[in-house]
Amino acid sequence: MDATAPSTPGVPVERRENGESALGAPVERREGRQKVTGTARYAAEQPRPGRAHAWPVPASVARGRVTGIDTAAALALPGVLAVLSHENAPRLSEPDDAMLAVLRDSRVPHRGWFVALVVGETLEAARAGAAAVRVDYAVEDHDVTLTRDHPAAYAPEEANGGYPGTREHGDPEGAFASAPVRVDVGYSVPPLHNHPMEPHATTAEWQDGRLTVHTSTQGATTVRAVLAGLFGVPEDHVTVHAEHVGGGFGSKGTPRPDVVLAAMAARHTGRPVTLALPRRFLPAVVGHRAPTLHRLRLGARPDGRLVSLIHEVTTHTSRVKEFVEQAAVPTRVMYAAPDSRTAHRVTPLDVPTPSWMRAPGEAPGMYALESAMDELAGELGMDPVELRIVNEPDTEPDSGKPFSSRHLVECLREGARRFGWDRRDPRPGSRAEGPLLVGSGVAAAMYPVMAQPSTAAVRALSDGNFLVRINATDIGTGARTVLAQIAADRLAVPVDRVRIEVGSTDLPAASLAGGSSGTASWGWAVHEACARLAERLAGGPVPAEGLEVRADTAGQADADSPYARHAFGAHFAEVAVDTVTGETRVRRLLGVYAAGRILNSRTARSQFVGGMTMGLGMALTEGSTMDAAFGDFTESDLASYHVPAHADVPDIEAHWIDEDDPHLNPMGSKGIGEIGIVGTAAAIGNAVFHATGTRVRELPLTPDRVL
Ligand code: MOS
Repeated sequence: MDATAPSTPGVPVERRENGESALGAPVERREGRQKVTGTARYAAEQPRPGRAHAWPVPASVARGRVTGIDTAAALALPGVLAVLSHENAPRLSEPDDAMLAVLRDSRVPHRGWFVALVVGETLEAARAGAAAVRVDYAVEDHDVTLTRDHPAAYAPEEANGGYPGTREHGDPEGAFASAPVRVDVGYSVPPLHNHPMEPHATTAEWQDGRLTVHTSTQGATTVRAVLAGLFGVPEDHVTVHAEHVGGGFGSKGTPRPDVVLAAMAARHTGRPVTLALPRRFLPAVVGHRAPTLHRLRLGARPDGRLVSLIHEVTTHTSRVKEFVEQAAVPTRVMYAAPDSRTAHRVTPLDVPTPSWMRAPGEAPGMYALESAMDELAGELGMDPVELRIVNEPDTEPDSGKPFSSRHLVECLREGARRFGWDRRDPRPGSRAEGPLLVGSGVAAAMYPVMAQPSTAAVRALSDGNFLVRINATDIGTGARTVLAQIAADRLAVPVDRVRIEVGSTDLPAASLAGGSSGTASWGWAVHEACARLAERLAGGPVPAEGLEVRADTAGQADADSPYARHAFGAHFAEVAVDTVTGETRVRRLLGVYAAGRILNSRTARSQFVGGMTMGLGMALTEGSTMDAAFGDFTESDLASYHVPAHADVPDIEAHWIDEDDPHLNPMGSKGIGEIGIVGTAAAIGNAVFHATGTRVRELPLTPDRVL
């Protein structure tokens, strides 16, 4: 086929002979060259005439009130333009999200909360100014320590995601008490930090009552709505650009204080202002994965079938707002058990506000459940793969809905085959190599399938090309590339004839890159728009002025389904534990996924491998400590909060099985951004137990715990 000649739109590529731009192809990401050559511009890299820089002043006490701010020394420094605080900052409307109530009043709800912002001609001036601001506080006693039986703990009505806080079926306590085989265990997962490569950053500028921001966000449409509300201007007076975003992992899912502060500072000074949060300020102000304390009670018959499944989670939230890590929710989906209870308790403490971090709920919840399943397999003397298979449910256990597709058993079997699971000696501590103990472990993975309404426009250009426009956000996933593939497929043209624009509120409104829902949500709108355009073009040539069609999936993407829709997976790990140093090294990590149709094999693999790498960090090195005396996270930079480096990560294998699920979206895709982290930590923890014979129930598995 001549790649320059217009072909007849309307025939999906999968049904064509050559299939060169078919969905699933390993198309390289379109912005790759820009990124590796440094020409891709991020939010802080927006030079403007007269641009100033801002640096925040974090509270140095964990609870209390600001009683005085002395700015004289700061303002006397060369290049310092202004010091904003609750005393002089622009008055904004009250935000729906209390994390954004910055510089509004004198209250200090946690250490690290921003109490002032210094604006300077240069970054250095702003930083020096921030160091010179003197803040006095009326200090109150604080409490930042999460315990299982904290007197302030309560059962929340809802956990994050709108899930009920508690679900109970039958008589779980009674069924557990009379079960022939029982496991009653506790696990703990520490606070975890998102730490995207690009810290939160914003460049803001006001001109004639209109606000333009470049900001690092997972969803510019929401940022615009929030800023318009806070500053009391119409939405069409606010433009938000997020063309390139260096990761977020949930911490940029909704606006964070940087964008509000930058817009405030720009309004106050009349200058364009850039605020890039220093990394060590992130843990306190952008959200974190809340620590979770788990109690799992699994009761089973001797054949392995669960008769009772109880998963109770205790977590913290801040005094700013309630956020409940929904860690017991995945247990409602996984295994058949006639009697069950899944419940959350939350304790408001004087801690930073937790929020979304890659697979909120599923990551810590499945760590605990899949570790407990491994312990049960041990009690039963049963293979852990087979234990999961005998507990496969016919329908989703909690809701009774049929699964739209569920190929967990296939993932487990395929993973076991690829991993060589049948060569494993099940006895713990049975394989030594000098001072090393070697073991392997398995865990299941699950992540829900979500989609949200979005709008897309596609234009047929007279030169035979097409232009797709949608305010999707490419946070490093390759989203713009996959959306171009979806358009090319539906228009039946080679993918290089599709141009695409994403990452700006100048484009049709779209949902956020979160909940692993981006491609499903945006792709659905792109697919619809392309289908309509193809219909309009079927009769004849593209008019000289081009032809544009729009589609909005409201009412479609958010429609209730009679099906329970989730992606599934299986993770296998092999570790070597050094009996001298206590160090655990992961030797192999292998995942097999059932995640609907894979739309780009190259970028999908990156998503899976990235998630598994983050799960490796969760298992072995990541975690921060709440300093009870200061009320602060101790590990707040990358020197102390250890994310995996290349030397920590083996050649991870990610595979998938073909899944043809007609109950999802027109592409048949499930989300893939988060499932890679789910279950990985449990597989590694189970491998450490298999290697050593010692069960460590507290993450991360650092040498001091493993020895
Ligand atoms: Mo993801 S934690 O939903 O951005």
